[in-house]
Amino acid sequence: MTTTENAETTTFPPSEEFAANAVATAEKYEAATADRLGYWADQARSTLSWDTDFSEVLDWSEAPFAKWFIGGELNAAYNAVDRHVEAGRGDRVAIHFEGEPGDTRTLTYAEMKDEVARAANAFESLGVTKGDRVAVYMPMIPETIVTMLACARIGAVHSVVFGGFSADALRSRVDDAEAKLIVTADGSYRRGKPSMLKPNVDEALSQPGHTVEKVLVVKRNEEEVSFTEGRDLWWHDVVPGQSTEHSYVPHDSEHPLFILYTSGTTGKPKGILHTTGGYLTQTAVTHRDSFDLKPEQDVYWCSADVGWITGHSYIVYGPMTNGATQVIYEGTPDTPHKGRLWEIVQKYKVTQLYTAPTLIRTCMKWGREIPDQYDLSSLRVLGTVGEAINPEAWLWFREVIGANNGPGKEPKEHPAPIVDTWWQTETGGHMIAPLPGVTATKPGSAQTPVPGIEVGIVDEMGEEVGRGESGLLVVKEPWPGMLRGIYNNPERYKDTYWSRFGTDLYFAGDGARYDDDGDIWLMGRVDDVMNVSGHRLSTTEIESALVAHESVAEAAVVGAKDATTGEAVVAFVILRGGYEDDGSLEETLRNHVRAEIGPIAKPRNVLIVPELPKTRSGKIMRRLLKNVANGDEVGDASTLADPTIMEKIAEDMRTKHGS
Ligand code: PRX
Repeated sequence: MTTTENAETTTFPPSEEFAANAVATAEKYEAATADRLGYWADQARSTLSWDTDFSEVLDWSEAPFAKWFIGGELNAAYNAVDRHVEAGRGDRVAIHFEGEPGDTRTLTYAEMKDEVARAANAFESLGVTKGDRVAVYMPMIPETIVTMLACARIGAVHSVVFGGFSADALRSRVDDAEAKLIVTADGSYRRGKPSMLKPNVDEALSQPGHTVEKVLVVKRNEEEVSFTEGRDLWWHDVVPGQSTEHSYVPHDSEHPLFILYTSGTTGKPKGILHTTGGYLTQTAVTHRDSFDLKPEQDVYWCSADVGWITGHSYIVYGPMTNGATQVIYEGTPDTPHKGRLWEIVQKYKVTQLYTAPTLIRTCMKWGREIPDQYDLSSLRVLGTVGEAINPEAWLWFREVIGANNGPGKEPKEHPAPIVDTWWQTETGGHMIAPLPGVTATKPGSAQTPVPGIEVGIVDEMGEEVGRGESGLLVVKEPWPGMLRGIYNNPERYKDTYWSRFGTDLYFAGDGARYDDDGDIWLMGRVDDVMNVSGHRLSTTEIESALVAHESVAEAAVVGAKDATTGEAVVAFVILRGGYEDDGSLEETLRNHVRAEIGPIAKPRNVLIVPELPKTRSGKIMRRLLKNVANGDEVGDASTLADPTIMEKIAEDMRTKHGS
């Protein structure tokens, strides 16, 4: 019996049958180690269609600004759609869309090609040209993918803003990217009810000074929305009438493909910039190898939202470049019932499921009786992303989902392998992950870098640590899918990732440890970034939102341990003079953060405190607050200006929030 105690020494080798038919082979590691750049050049040429071949693989002469596949030209939308149709695979399903209310749509690659061409023509008719930025604020519907690919086709740079973000968050991202067009929807469905987007766009654009000329709106639900004359247009009035002919232009390998904002250690989100050739190579190769993709027979499903990097790389660009058939689902896993995920797996005979540890833990909480009612025998690879997966959840995923052979049937002798994938918005694609069919997997560990990627764990001086030791995770060589910068902010790019160890080592911001076998275990962020349900949130961003409330003088935010969401936001605030808590202020402040940033940032607890723990030089000691939020011993408070304050805060935390 595997228990979590022996997780570190337990491994699950692939079955002989799986290994014999696996897409990835152990030779890939050897080839990549022998000649890393040659390996990536081969992968780029054999996986993508280039209009012009590249003449050089990597130019790192202006480090940390990388260029990959120099001189090469290609079109991401052609790679993701047209070429599959040209190769006679137009009838293959690209997308099985499952709406939350139960409506469905199926789009083949041939239909996707027409849709993308129409949208590309429509965007051009609205004045969008190569290099322009298009903000995408959409639910999980096929038009979102069509929009991204239509942008890529014409060389416009999309900036997808997660539909759960507030009007303010949308506005700051639209402003930073100087978007010309916003593509949105009236709304979507969430937990059985309409959930609106367009009103947030209206609010975001209500103040002058933005660059948005047009707003294109997909109709998804029946709610009324207001329209601004001359600015807002319905998708159904503009797109369907367009021609399905659109001749694409090839773009330089380094042409910007998209910007995606992510939280950093300061309040202002960073616009992570990705370009075309390298990003497409790494996402397509890792999507194929990490998930053992056999596109002619598989039905792949990634449950992420397209508003995050996982959706960009492993719903849009990787899978479609590989000609995969995939499922996309609009809604929440518990609507209309807690078996919805498994019902979808059963219905479409999903073969690969890529999801987040937080969702697995939620399903564990709901109980195995729910998945046990469904036939999940089609599943043959399971993937996780977003945070470290604890061994309990890993083993549950394997035993309850990966071994499911249908209701009342004996479990599978060889459960589906689990691939725990470590990567970031910045890395573009998988960096550390086992290869199914090759690696003997280990519960809770992401294990080894993927072929062609060189990572290390180093101490504060940049020296590699040994087995059994922990340190900071770094990437030791440039990689094709790496970010090319922070949009409009080269200094911040250098400072954030390349100042700690110079341009020799990319600083990922994660702590990690080698076990005695040399496998890598991720240990969470080492900076002021929290990970709530696999979503990155900055403590500073939430603190700024709190102090923007009239009642708050000062705020300190920490990530506390949470059994389901990994971490939870806990905020400590000092009130301004004249304000008193009437008993409802904590709830008001939680909702205030929700409105300012979005539901994912809503604090689990807000504690009103008389003072924050500060050193004599005025620095807030978040470490002590984190201990209190976790219900741990306060720790050494001797350097505080007022050492007694922590006792008071700990006492309040215990009485008010029970920890
Ligand atoms: O801390 C790591 C954690 O998520 C961070 C990246 O967040 P983001 O850019 O939003 O991308 C999430 C999806 C790729 C990392 O710095 N993280 C991501 N995957 C894992 C992980 N931590 C441990 N194990 C993982 N598999």
